[in-house]
Amino acid sequence: MTSTYIMDFLKNKWVVPKDTRPSFKGRTVIVTGANVGLGYWAALKFVQFGATKVILACRTISKGEDAKRRIDAQTKRPETTEVWQLDMSNYESIKAFANRANTHLESLDIACLNAGMMSMSFKRTDAGYEETMQVNVLSTTYLALLLIPKMRASKTASFTPVLEIVGSSNADIVSKLVSDTEPFAAYNKPENFSSAGQYSTSKLFVNYVEQALVPLVANKETGKPDVFVTVVCPGACKSELARNATAWYFVIFKAIFSLIQRSSEEGSRTYISGVDQGEKLHGGFWKDDTIRPPAPLQQGEKGKKLQKIVWREVTDALIKDVPEVKQLAAL
Ligand SMILES: NC(=O)c1ccc[n+]([C@@H]2O[C@H](COP(=O)([O-])OP(=O)(O)OC[C@H]3O[C@@H](n4cnc5c(N)ncnc54)[C@H](OP(=O)(O)O)[C@@H]3O)[C@@H](O)[C@H]2O)c1
Repeated sequence: MTSTYIMDFLKNKWVVPKDTRPSFKGRTVIVTGANVGLGYWAALKFVQFGATKVILACRTISKGEDAKRRIDAQTKRPETTEVWQLDMSNYESIKAFANRANTHLESLDIACLNAGMMSMSFKRTDAGYEETMQVNVLSTTYLALLLIPKMRASKTASFTPVLEIVGSSNADIVSKLVSDTEPFAAYNKPENFSSAGQYSTSKLFVNYVEQALVPLVANKETGKPDVFVTVVCPGACKSELARNATAWYFVIFKAIFSLIQRSSEEGSRTYISGVDQGEKLHGGFWKDDTIRPPAPLQQGEKGKKLQKIVWREVTDALIKDVPEVKQLAAL
């Protein structure tokens, strides 16, 4: 565990991210998992700060409509928000969502891929992967790859679109993987599952995915990014993330943990400032108003090797079920 991680943890509730208010006038924004928690607050802020269109991408339409009602009541801009269905554990749903974005939106300036989860027990999705790895890693990667072409086409002389993936500094506490040769495969086996460990590792893998997307979004002629890719961490926040942690020991842990958690509103400020950092955050990790160094398992030759292996495993797994990934990921 790094000293930065421990310091962050101790000051988490008391030193919160700056409440910046950049203008999003003219911008079209997607926020996944916008019905509750951090995604809800981020979506509200995008509307408050002037975005032209904010797509609330939600697994359950009724929950999304409820979020829309609350956002509209506060902002008085009901024409700005739309609720679109998106189930991040189902490739068909992701593909349908991306097709809708690619055909119906004039431009896509900001995609905040926030939907994420922490499973308390090992559960496989229809595609056969452990659910946390499916939602946080595979599906997030798939959605990112499907949206990048539209975002690329939305670049203008004065604005570079931002693909913002929500990660976690829990990636920093992963000191060892259960396998260095097939890590992604290993974490999809029940014998290697532990809820907190699985979640943290999924977020380390998200950082690996970000590293792989950086060369992919480079302009073929200029080498400059057509899209900025960032990973942001909101800090430990009160939300529904541990909703399935109902065992008595989790309940006690959550009660103690809540003493240091910040609110989701405070955490979501990181999403807002994160999309406003420009090129200096491209390929980087944003937390508490600073660009953080890569996680320990991203560093050095070992980090580079693991990144390549995980990216290969993630894309191989996707290509098996959604072959267009081969082309989207330029493999
Ligand atoms: N809270 C923290 O302390 C913390 C710290 C660091 C990073 N994060 C990250 O922040 C992001 C948001 O988490 P949160 O804390 O706000 O948790 P949350 O309150 O549980 O919100 C998670 C959101 O993701 C959606 N989601 C989960 N699985 C989905 C699926 N299969 N398909 C579509 N949507 C799905 C949820 O939809 P439903 O309501 O329909 O389930 C919900 O809208 C996550 O990526 C999390 O890892 C959180």
